[in-house]
Amino acid sequence: MEDSFLFNMKTILVTGGAGFIGSNFINYILKNRDDYFIINLDKLTYAGNLENLKESETNKNYIFVKGDITNNELVNFLFGKYKIKYVINFAAESHVDRSILGAEVFYRTNVIGTNVLLEAARRFNIEKFLQISTDEVYGSLGPTGLFTETTPLSPNSPYSSSKAAADMMAMAYHHTYGLPVVITRCSNNYGPYQFPEKLIPLMIINALNNKKLPIYGDGMNVRDWIYVIDHNKAVELVFEKGKVGEVYNVGASNEMPNLQIVKLILKHLNKNEDLIEFVKDRPGHDRRYAIDSSKIQNQLGWKPEFTFESAIEHTINWYLENKSWWERILTGDYLKYYSEQYSNR
Ligand code: NAD
Ligand code: DAU
Repeated sequence: MEDSFLFNMKTILVTGGAGFIGSNFINYILKNRDDYFIINLDKLTYAGNLENLKESETNKNYIFVKGDITNNELVNFLFGKYKIKYVINFAAESHVDRSILGAEVFYRTNVIGTNVLLEAARRFNIEKFLQISTDEVYGSLGPTGLFTETTPLSPNSPYSSSKAAADMMAMAYHHTYGLPVVITRCSNNYGPYQFPEKLIPLMIINALNNKKLPIYGDGMNVRDWIYVIDHNKAVELVFEKGKVGEVYNVGASNEMPNLQIVKLILKHLNKNEDLIEFVKDRPGHDRRYAIDSSKIQNQLGWKPEFTFESAIEHTINWYLENKSWWERILTGDYLKYYSEQYSNR
């Protein structure tokens, strides 16, 4: 690759780009911009899937590197080779239930891995480091109120504590070394290519297979849902215009109890509510998340564009039309995880 080619591009290390949000981001960006060169560094864990990136794999502004963000040597090599000026760090272990079954890999990837990236970013003097975080770092809300960017961090699960640690490290690198860090904290995403361990795809696929739909506790835990492309657009905007040293909450003001979502999925698929099964609650289950996204709306001009009604319909239809994508997942490792997670509930 010619140095002059890279010189004219925004060379971005996107980590975790084979996962759900990262792959939607890369596909979206490569369709809409020709000034970004993306180096996608992904370990291809159980959650990483190159099939998600079929439409992007031959794009001249894109390359894929299989590797681990905790690999110092590899990360430094990539920064030098591709003259990386920007990092967007999506890579993470992302599932709360798995973090309860085994926390270690969460701290390794989400904390140590982020530290490796921050160190390389510092050494190579990059122009922006965008840390993709989550509203779960704020903990749980009561029946009223919203998370703002100044809500104290109070994570409750191994997953969210690892993400909170990464946020604090990133900000410490900003304050101590002047590293140009920005953080986004988004609420629950849904859309195509989401791994069927998360609520919405798991319920769609179980319903299609006439399997029981396991609802934790009373089903009245509330999440604030956003379509993945709305999140991706917010990431693009914060990457372009976000002020260094700032945190931006991202959410679509779409709170819903889990039971309501599951019933809606069943209705859409013409399936009977008898499939619903209330099971033992998730330990430490956060009751309610709800995001105040007025800062990104007022300061950067972002707003969600998709309504829940149309985007959930699109998502359900995507799973109906892409059976082969998820059927390939429902094999060995997934079945083992499913049985460990759900058999004794
Ligand atoms: P995902 O689990 O679908 O994808 C994670 C990706 O990271 C996978 O491709 C995986 O292979 C890769 N990865 C994991 N460990 C790695 C390592 N050590 N080195 C390199 N790559 C590695 O996750 P997602 O749902 O797409 O979430 C992406 C990011 O967004 C995460 O940081 C998550 O915390 C954050 N987030 C997710 C949501 C959500 O609702 N899913 C909401 C807010 C924020
Ligand atoms: O809020 C952002 C976070 O949203 C992200 O940071 C995480 O990466 C992402 O996984 C998600 O975390 P949640 O724990 O909210 O998502 P999950 O899909 O696992 O669960 C959503 C809700 O549904 C939660 O209240 C638990 C419940 N649930 C989930 C599963 C998998 C069930 O009742 N039954 C289930 O089988």
